[in-house]
Amino acid sequence: MFENILLEKHGAVAVLTINRPDKMNAVNNATVEELDQALVRVEADPDLRVLILTGAGEKAFVAGADINEVKNRDAVTGRAETRRRQEVYTRIENLEIPSIAAINGFALGTGLELAMVCSMRIASTQARLGQPEVKLGIIPGAGGTQRLPKLIGMGRAMELVLTGDPIAADQALAMGLVNRVVAPEALMETARTLATTIAQRPKLAIQYAKEAILRSGEGALAQGLAHESYLHTLACGTADKKEGIAAFLEKRAPEFTGR
Ligand code: COA
Repeated sequence: MFENILLEKHGAVAVLTINRPDKMNAVNNATVEELDQALVRVEADPDLRVLILTGAGEKAFVAGADINEVKNRDAVTGRAETRRRQEVYTRIENLEIPSIAAINGFALGTGLELAMVCSMRIASTQARLGQPEVKLGIIPGAGGTQRLPKLIGMGRAMELVLTGDPIAADQALAMGLVNRVVAPEALMETARTLATTIAQRPKLAIQYAKEAILRSGEGALAQGLAHESYLHTLACGTADKKEGIAAFLEKRAPEFTGR
């Protein structure tokens, strides 16, 4: 049914897997649309109580947006694509049921942005998390600049986004970016146990509690997201974006010019 994702149901728990392991589960535009369709099904299923989001294979949760598509983003498509991602990811954040990101490896760029719209995050000891966009001459565009400071504070968010360097799972745990770190072989079981615990609580209490906690962090998120998309789109017009992406694809060090 889907080409880029898997959606399975285990009793009251849905498991949504980004399934492009040969591309490190990089999220392309088609994956975003499939995610949206999967969310329609999750929303329509009254038996589901918790969603687990993970990545296929052993290396990556999601290693970012598909760089081959980001390469072609310009001032028109940059805005459309970032706004669409923000919309679909926000839909996960706003699901009536809680969600758990089971971070099995690299969670970079849009991967970390996806993990951050989940209600909780569990990481394997092998996970590495980061927002590497500046290394490609762009900036996060699916919520990273807005949700990261809310989760870990402005100073730490600045360091992660401005260096572009990833952090290890234990560092992410220390700054509250993930709730727990477990051995890779224990990751899915830990996520399922947490999901089952929550699924045993009263459905509406969980729904209302989740909504209340979300509202506490709202502030001017919609404005922030719009501004983020605008700035990402500006970055799409720079020479350094072209160079950053070309260098990655050609497996060489970038030569940035500041233009
Ligand atoms: N988009 C498209 N393809 C990607 C990708 C992405 N974000 N991340 C990895 N891939 C592809 C690689 O190009 C490679 O494809 P190939 O086998 O056809 O050459 C394949 O996935 C395996 O990745 P590779 O880089 O060889 O694995 P690695 O173990 O050496 O490094 C990462 C893993 C995650 C550190 C590295 O792939 C990486 O830095 N990815 C980009 C991260 C990023 O900048 N994301 C933000 C995008 S906006």
